Amino acid sequence: MGGIIIKTPEQIEGIRKSCRLAAQTLDYAAQFVKTGVTTEFIDNKIEEFVREHKAIPATKGYNGYPKSSCISLNEVVCHGIPSTKTVLKDGDILNIDITTILDGFYGDTSRMFTVGEINNGAKNLIDVTRHCLDLGIQQVKPGNYFGNIGFVISRYAKAKGYSVVYEFCGHGVGVEFHEEPQVDHTSRRNKGPKMKPGMIFTIEPMINQGRASTSIDKSDGWTARTVDNKLSAQFEHTILVTQTGFEVLTDVHNEYPIT
Ligand code: MF3
Ligand code: CO
Ligand code: CO
Repeated sequence: MGGIIIKTPEQIEGIRKSCRLAAQTLDYAAQFVKTGVTTEFIDNKIEEFVREHKAIPATKGYNGYPKSSCISLNEVVCHGIPSTKTVLKDGDILNIDITTILDGFYGDTSRMFTVGEINNGAKNLIDVTRHCLDLGIQQVKPGNYFGNIGFVISRYAKAKGYSVVYEFCGHGVGVEFHEEPQVDHTSRRNKGPKMKPGMIFTIEPMINQGRASTSIDKSDGWTARTVDNKLSAQFEHTILVTQTGFEVLTDVHNEYPIT
């Protein structure tokens, strides 16, 4: 029963640096996303970049996970393992998820990438998922309930005809990889703990075209797919609760706050 950690100013500064590196690593990875490239190749580039910046890829060896990133294509919801067998092709949509450990502090972020021309259905799914994350982020302020994050996300996703993955969640982050609280993307209005300044956590909605349920690949024990093999998309940021609202620690493009 550790509870939710309130980070010190020193911890916040360390986590901020790690978060910026994780997001810069996604920027760096973008150039390798094209037809014919394997996800293993992208993962190797990611590992090189992270280590050049004196950081460690947090996923490598985490509960036996073998790679420096998660790369989840099309019907893969999350935890896709980079592989020489997974070759990018025109029309693919993919999430790259990177967590860095810099000076002992964790930063966690993911975003969607596309290969060549994608269809309108895939494009709409990505746009809606991105907006789900933004709606969740806009709920972050002292005194608000964690439940309101998932409430606004699921209300919007359902209105757009999509389903929200309930089997994987956001999480406290910074001093450890996965801390309290669990941040549900399907939670109820005014439920759960209240946010306080100094809390740091991820919001990382996974939104599906078809059914919400997932199943984990028996052969690798990690890859989570939609049960109906329809598309899934995800975006993730690490967010600090400030005295008045939020700071998106993984926002290297100064996209927040959205005005
Ligand atoms: N980065 C993922 C998250 O957002 C966790 C990946 S854990 C792994 O929480 F072991 F699958 F890599
Ligand atoms: Co996360
Ligand atoms: Co992540």
